[in-house]
This record gives sequence, structure tokens and C-alpha cells, in this order.
Amino acid sequence: MALRILVTGGAGFIGSAVVRQLLDDTPHEVLNLDKLTYAANLASLATVEGNPRYRFAQVDICDGPRVAETVAGFRPHAIMHLAAESHVDRSIDGPSDFIQTNVVGTFTLLQEALRYWRALDGEAKAAFRFQHVSTDEVFGSLGANGWFTEATPYAPRSPYSASKASSDHLVSAWHETYGLPTIITNCSNNYGPYHFPEKLIPLMILKGLAREKLPVYGKGDNIRDWLYVEDHARALRLVLEKGKIGETYNIGGENERTNLSVVETLCDLLDELKPDAKLPSHRSLISFVADRPGHDFRYAMDITKISRQLGWKPIETFETGLKKTVEWYLANEPWWRSILDKSYRGQRLGLGG
Ligand code: NAD
Ligand code: DAU
Repeated sequence: MALRILVTGGAGFIGSAVVRQLLDDTPHEVLNLDKLTYAANLASLATVEGNPRYRFAQVDICDGPRVAETVAGFRPHAIMHLAAESHVDRSIDGPSDFIQTNVVGTFTLLQEALRYWRALDGEAKAAFRFQHVSTDEVFGSLGANGWFTEATPYAPRSPYSASKASSDHLVSAWHETYGLPTIITNCSNNYGPYHFPEKLIPLMILKGLAREKLPVYGKGDNIRDWLYVEDHARALRLVLEKGKIGETYNIGGENERTNLSVVETLCDLLDELKPDAKLPSHRSLISFVADRPGHDFRYAMDITKISRQLGWKPIETFETGLKKTVEWYLANEPWWRSILDKSYRGQRLGLGG
């Protein structure tokens, strides 16, 4: 059945992957509701822009009346909520936007979704889903051992993760209290094409190409669990289709790497794909800098539940995914050049000064 799916944050990194997949691989109609912050890029949707099943509305999720009007006009079968302020370093420098969008915005969206859902009749009401896309960071920081499961208690430590944890709690409360049919997913670090270059992987690729220093926080021994963005988007579609109302699902790549090893692998890929005669190796650009305040040591997701219950597994390995990513940045300079010319030039963020 062709559905109408309202995606918030569809002009961002993961949201645009979800929108592209929905339009390329399903018969569904998509409405992308996005405020177009610094992190948004409509060029990430160039391949679907002319699709008659796609529309776009520039709306802030904190603006209740505009959200209500957009929802009423589109009459979605489901809402996939990805809009957020997403960068930990920015949340250290300026937490206010994170509270506003991630907490107040999610609350506003929940209120409008509830009002809309309550007015639906029998079958449409039973089929409706509100899917909230969240992060592994809500669980806090791991030591050398263990994994986050769906039962791990919340222990967020940055303004970003605290704001996402708050939004998760609001979503659960709207399910328990009002019966809104919600599902939450918590995912590990994504990487891939169309990633805004404030984040580790694209930042290192672009700095490496510009022969600039590659700033590794602390000793580079913090660990993240990397997932290729298209694998995440597939997981989100599957959860929307088959996930159980009121449940949460962990999504991860089973690809744990220290930051230093990620940066070294990127340097080796650049040496292979774009050798620079002026450098002995891109590794010579690696530079250890002051650590991120409150830097979570390790994230790692146990993905047993989504694998066993829904049959999802990542397709991409870290090696194939990272190579595809570097190749994409090499082939798509106009996409990232326009960001560097406009909103972000690669400066250090998150020292909290
Ligand atoms: P992103 O920063 O690339 O994109 C966020 C999008 O949301 C942008 O298009 C922006 O314009 C939009 N937006 C921001 N504030 C808005 C508002 N008030 N109203 C409407 N739109 C607004 O983020 P991303 O990396 O694609 O992350 C998407 C979601 O996935 C977020 O909820 C994030 O917390 C979550 N997540 C991200 C990762 C990751 O590794 N990037 C991992 C797990 C979960
Ligand atoms: O774990 C999921 C989260 O992953 C998402 O919820 C967030 O939205 C997303 O931004 C990401 O958060 P991180 O803080 O893990 O990603 P970031 O790319 O900012 O940093 C990855 C690691 O690399 C982290 O340990 C900090 C380090 N780092 C980052 C930058 C930008 C550096 O060493 N140098 C850098 O210049």
C-alpha cells in the first residue's frame, strides 16, 4: 500500500537518505518538513526534487500552528521524526537551540500528532505511527567492556544527549499517557555521503584534501560504533513497517573503532585515491588537540533485538562504506564547497568558551 509519510528533518544528513530511499525504493508519498537550519541542504535532495510523490514545507517544528496546518494538509499515515540539532560540539557552545528544537520542538510535534491522530477513524487510527529517531548517546558512556541494550538506563552527559534523552522520554510519555502509537529507535554514529563537514569523518576528508591539520581530540582513543547511513535508513523503514508500538530498537554498525584508527584509515584512503605529492602521507597531518569537555569514552550498540525480531543487519562493512564515502566527497566537490563558502569553514567548535 502506498503511504503518505511526513519526514521531519528531511534536508539533513540522515533525513535526506530516508527521503531518497522512500522515493526510490517504495511507492510512498513523502512530505519533508524542515526549518532549513545551517545543517540542512536541499542539494542533498536534488535527485528526488522533481518526483511528483515528493513535496517540501519549510516549517519549524516549534511552530505549532504551522505544524498543524502542514499535517492537516498532508494527512500522513506516519510521521518519521528526525529534525534536531545534532552536533555535540555545538551543544557545548550553545545549548539553547538544542533545548528549543529537540525538547520543545518534539513536544510541539507530539501535541500536533496527537490532535491529528485522535481525529482519525478506526482503521487509519490503528495504522498510524509516530517514529522518533534518537541516538545511542542517551545511554551515556561505556568503559572498555559491554554494550548498550534497550534496557540500559539513560545517563546522558552532554547538552545534546540530554536534550535527545528528554525527547525520548516525552515520546514514551505520549504513548503511555495518551496512547499515541509511537516507536523509538536509538542509533550509533552514522557516516556516508551528504554528511555535514563539522562531523569527524567528513571534516577529516576535507581537511586532508586541503592539506590542513587533522584535529584529533585528546589521544584519539575514544571509541564510536560506525554505521553507514543507507543501512540506518533501511533500518528505519523496516522499523516503521514491522516494529511494535511502544517499543524501542537499538541500531548500530557492530563497527567499533578508535577515533585515531578512523582518521588513519581515512588518511590511507586519501593517499590511495587522491595522492598528494607535497605530503609523505596524509597521516603526517594528524594533530592531537585539547579534548572535548565531558567526552564520552565509548559507545557500542547491542543489535540483537532488531536483528532477531525484524531481521535487520548492516550490509556495508566499515572498509567498503568508508571507501565509498571518500569517493563520494572526491566526486561531489560542488556539494561541500558551497557549505565551506557559506556556513562552516572547518573551525574548532565545542570548547565551551
Ligand atoms: P542533521 O543535523 O544533519 O540534520 C538535521 C535536520 O533537521 C536539518 O535539515 C535541519 O534543518 C532540521 N531541523 C533542525 N531544527 C529544526 C526545527 N526546529 N524544525 C524543523 N527542522 C529542523 O542531523 P542528522 O545527523 O541527519 O540526524 C538526524 C536525526 O538522527 C537527529 O534526530 C539525530 O539526533 C539523530 N541521530 C543522528 C546520528 C548521527 O550519527 N548523525 C546518530 C543517531 C541519531
Ligand atoms: O553516537 C551517535 C551520535 O554520533 C549522534 O547522535 C550525533 O548526532 C552525531 O553527531 C555523532 O556524535 P559524535 O559526537 O560521536 O560525532 P562527532 O563526529 O562530532 O565526533 C566523533 C568522535 O570524533 C568523537 O569522539 C569526537 C571526535 N572528534 C570529532 C571532531 C569533530 C575529533 O577527534 N576531532 C574532531 O574534529
